[in-house]
Amino acid sequence: MCGIVGYIGGKPAQQILIDGLKRLEYRGYDSAGIGLHGGTKIKITKQKGRIAGLSDSLPQDNPLETVGIGHTRWATHGEPNTVNSHPHMDYSGKISVVHNGIIENYGALKKFLIEKGCEFKSDTDTEVIANLIGYFYEQEHDCEQDCFEWSVQKALNQVYGTYGLAVMCSDYPDVIVAAKKGSPLLIGVGSGENLIASDASAIVEHTKQVIYLEDDEMAIVEKDDVTIKTIHNKRIERELKEIDFSIEEIELGGYEHYMLKEIFEQPDALSTCLKGRLDLNNYKIILGGIQNLSRHLTTAKRFILTGCGTAWHACLVGEYLIERLARTPVEVEYASELRYRNPIIEEGTVVIAVSQSGETADTLAAIEMCKERGATVLGVVNVVGSTIARTTDAGVYLRVGPEIGVASTKAFTAQVAVLTMMAIELGRRRHLDNSRTEQLIKDLDRIPNIINDVLKYSDMIKDISKECGDRENWLFLGRGYNYPTALEGALKLKEISYIHAEGLPAAEMKHGPIALINDGMPAVFIATRCSNYDKIISNIEEVRARGGKTIIIANEGDEEIERYADYLIRIPNVDDALEPLVAAIPLQLLAYHCAVLRGLDVDKPRNLAKSVTVE
Ligand code: G6P
Repeated sequence: MCGIVGYIGGKPAQQILIDGLKRLEYRGYDSAGIGLHGGTKIKITKQKGRIAGLSDSLPQDNPLETVGIGHTRWATHGEPNTVNSHPHMDYSGKISVVHNGIIENYGALKKFLIEKGCEFKSDTDTEVIANLIGYFYEQEHDCEQDCFEWSVQKALNQVYGTYGLAVMCSDYPDVIVAAKKGSPLLIGVGSGENLIASDASAIVEHTKQVIYLEDDEMAIVEKDDVTIKTIHNKRIERELKEIDFSIEEIELGGYEHYMLKEIFEQPDALSTCLKGRLDLNNYKIILGGIQNLSRHLTTAKRFILTGCGTAWHACLVGEYLIERLARTPVEVEYASELRYRNPIIEEGTVVIAVSQSGETADTLAAIEMCKERGATVLGVVNVVGSTIARTTDAGVYLRVGPEIGVASTKAFTAQVAVLTMMAIELGRRRHLDNSRTEQLIKDLDRIPNIINDVLKYSDMIKDISKECGDRENWLFLGRGYNYPTALEGALKLKEISYIHAEGLPAAEMKHGPIALINDGMPAVFIATRCSNYDKIISNIEEVRARGGKTIIIANEGDEEIERYADYLIRIPNVDDALEPLVAAIPLQLLAYHCAVLRGLDVDKPRNLAKSVTVE
């Protein structure tokens, strides 16, 4: 939520900031702004709406300023309008701040500052930080430390909450101060230039060398130097890390939308995810990141799987997999609930946290709470070096490259693939018989090719969208392994098409939701041969009897199903434990085509942000 970027160097800052913000736009897109340091004054331009609008409003030949900060906003405190957009200036007009996060004690701080005579213009918590820094900047201080840096430190020591910050001071044209607590922030280290960003995609075209700030740390960023300190003024040495993807991977590459690109990337993405991890000679799974813990995992008494949104759906698939293949009890919990639930964590409890971004605030808080209670916590994360990847005891990366579309697609299938590998390996070590293990590993190896075959139905699925995409209520129904797939299908449709959709275990329909079915209401069934086929046929009959339209995902060669389907999408036969990896694909395409036909902004759906770094 919210993206921040900063530049200090020898090149015109304006375009670098705008390009960086465009790459961060997935983090929030209700308003945007930049501040440019003109030597003695800071010039702010900000407005409601997307980065493209901000860019149009700026002078196109602005080569002068080489220092600046920028922000793209997802509103928390204060409606999205120009005044509430960042950067925020302090009351003296000297301090300028961009912020990602939430200042929890902003009410008390604001009261204090108003009593001191500060005037506030916006409804945001961020303006409190700007004014607090400004307030301290005007105070006398008796240490040797530089005044700007000191005032930022002093302010941050009064603040409760989360922040990723970049701050400029009009008296300091050669410095940007950045700081982090709870919201991601990194420094891109270049030659004669340095950058600040919420994530690496914003700066990868300038440098691949980065420093990840830790909580309670700040960076004094100059053109040729970066100094890292704690907010208590203790110097820190931090090694440089290398960004693991290239600029090409975050370009559209000829696709109309990132979501479509990422759906079509799945065969390659999953190949990379599985590569080197399936041992097809000895029929075992090698997951390097958790190898040292294999004995601990094999003897685990209970797993808690946690995440948010799509990642939570992947956890649900993981529950079916680990329980069936490894016969170990599994609990799945939304991270936002787990963290406040006071869960029982006994010896032998292993927590697996699943997250594409590795930055989701609720997931992170749940991990910290579980660690405090003594659990071993593993991460299943996509973004290398992200906070969750660094906070967990060990983990497995998804290796699918950057996912930019707000609706998660390739990360979902990779999360399921990683959990599948974990479940097979746990099963193999516990009791799964050799022939089943062999078969599962061989089938998993075929999945990228199978997904490739399913993607060929994209045009046919587009035709279904043309016929059903105007309906405002949909049901998605599946059983067993495909119940979570149905939930994911419904979420995809909701997120990007703004169609109301409910995912359910098919048998639950008759306990209430069946009342919703009326003439022509689309009901999407995942009715493969493996998933309680006969039972699901009865559920399909129940929908048809009430006038619903059935869109059925069924196996190739199943002729019986034809008479129940208004629309039929075939998928190849695979082991039922691997079906979510395949059945998710047509559901992603269905949501995508419905949204495009409705003329919606597929990659930036309203009100959403890809990385939710606030509670
Ligand atoms: C947001 C996104 C979802 C995502 C969820 C969890 O709500 O819009 O697509 O599934 O966060 O994100 P994570 O990065 O932790 O997987």
